[in-house]
Amino acid sequence: MAEEFNFKSEVKKLYSLLLFLFTLFVVGGGGLIYYVNNPDVFDFESKTETIAVAPIEEDEDRIENGIHVRTGLIDAEGLMTVVNNCTNCHSAKIVTQNRMNTERWNATIKWMQETQNLWDLGGNQEIIVNYLVANYPPKAMGRRMELTDIKWYELED
Ligand code: HEC
Repeated sequence: MAEEFNFKSEVKKLYSLLLFLFTLFVVGGGGLIYYVNNPDVFDFESKTETIAVAPIEEDEDRIENGIHVRTGLIDAEGLMTVVNNCTNCHSAKIVTQNRMNTERWNATIKWMQETQNLWDLGGNQEIIVNYLVANYPPKAMGRRMELTDIKWYELED
């Protein structure tokens, strides 16, 4: 009887040992897998803090050398009215490469309103057309006037 009892207790011991090893295997293996995937889990010292750095806001209406950088338009009275109304659908280049007088600008605007969904500009239309005629006047046709009364200067090397 004593022997049988002994045997039983040996089996129990072995069983606990196996259970222990199995547990160790599962926990250790799990830990190892976790560690492999998160290698810095034990790195308590260099806790990294995520600091959100707001991007330096660039002034999108920056003027450099008298030019509105974003659109290339000349900085003059009415600039922002033109920027806000005339650069939404197409580039400002389309505006500046067309040099027109007041009537033709008004006609172009009317055409865009009738065919291209351009909105009613109200009082801004005058500001816009004045800006365009003043800063992008129609190119003079024909020959320029002959130069007279010129002061020549020596070129230096
Ligand atoms: C709602 C959209 C829209 C707005 C805003 C707009 N346009 Fe246009 N514009 C167009 C379209 C579309 C065309 C045709 C583009 C093309 O032919 O590729 C055009 C063409 C033009 C042309 C060329 C016309 C031609 O005969 O070829 C000029 C100049 C022009 N626009 C000036 C302006 C000016 C000045 C303003 C501000 C008052 C303005 N646009 C605002 C849509 C717009």
